[in-house]
Amino acid sequence: MTAMELTIKRPDDWHIHFRDGAMLSAVVPETARVFGRAIVMPNLVPPVVTRADATAYRDRVLAAVPDGSDFTPLMTAYMTEKTDADDIAAGFEAGELTAVKLYPAGATTNSDAGVRDIRKVEPVLKRMAEIGMPLLVHGEVTDPMVDIFDREAVFIEVVLKPLMDRIPDLKVVMEHITTKQAADFVQESGDNLAATVTPHHMEINRTDMFRGGIRPHLYCLPIAKREGHRLAVREAAVSGHPRFFLGTDSAPHPVHAKETACGCAGIFNAPGALPVYAAIFEAEGALDRLEAFASLNGPRFYGLPVNEGTVTLIREPTVQIDGITVGDDRILAYRAGETLAWTVR
Ligand code: DOR
Ligand code: ZN
Repeated sequence: MTAMELTIKRPDDWHIHFRDGAMLSAVVPETARVFGRAIVMPNLVPPVVTRADATAYRDRVLAAVPDGSDFTPLMTAYMTEKTDADDIAAGFEAGELTAVKLYPAGATTNSDAGVRDIRKVEPVLKRMAEIGMPLLVHGEVTDPMVDIFDREAVFIEVVLKPLMDRIPDLKVVMEHITTKQAADFVQESGDNLAATVTPHHMEINRTDMFRGGIRPHLYCLPIAKREGHRLAVREAAVSGHPRFFLGTDSAPHPVHAKETACGCAGIFNAPGALPVYAAIFEAEGALDRLEAFASLNGPRFYGLPVNEGTVTLIREPTVQIDGITVGDDRILAYRAGETLAWTVR
């Protein structure tokens, strides 16, 4: 019997961390093999703040793309309280910048240069609304008094809803949503709000992080939530709703930085990402909606063409790689050594 096959338009990854230097060279091929484009996160040290920073970083990403691979990085600028609206608008109009990323200062890895007071960046946000430049949001409050599991839901109420009321035309992507509140908010809002969904937030809940002991490789931000939230996010993603789309949030860290007294947040899921999504859609009886989630909804929201080519998934078990080596470091892959039901031909 021949294995089941599924051919879809070439997908895009609307949220990825490529890092820089040797790590960049090692991780880009994992994405470029399958995805046509990716939205590249700017949280380097120092961050990618200006149009010039972004074009220099884009050239380093392109140098890491394997020969013969048709992959386009879409660059983002890291919002600071000093971001120059003219600079990022010029970058957007030149096609060098696709979006601006908002990190509340202190919310996550390399976010210290981010925004403390959202009011300070409102002139920039108004300019972005005028020119149709999307704002990509890490949606968590940073108040240490707010429980880590509540930070996304509180952000929606305290920051995002009021902001979208003040600037109703701003295009916003809530990145890597983890809660029912976020899934509901996107579905209830207008066409200018969308969300990306990671594979891991559709697969794991907060209890999985403590299954038999503490599992640092399942620690990411926003942190996985209760089972009810996982189910709500998963249901929204597979529903066929046009404003949910694929964003892996693949975030590589060396094993020594994860398995330590104060481990880094981030899951390296670029290897096997599309097969993992396919298995989720299959389990939900929604394989016919995978293409919209992976390849159509993102371009529509961003106002970009759908990719030209296709990729074919085969329902053939493949053992997930353990990870990759970067110099002396190991980077462990999500679902390392496990059998994935699908493979990309
Ligand atoms: O888990 C995460 N890792 N969440 C983020 O927001 C940042 C990312 C990283 O850069 O490692
Ligand atoms: Zn991220």
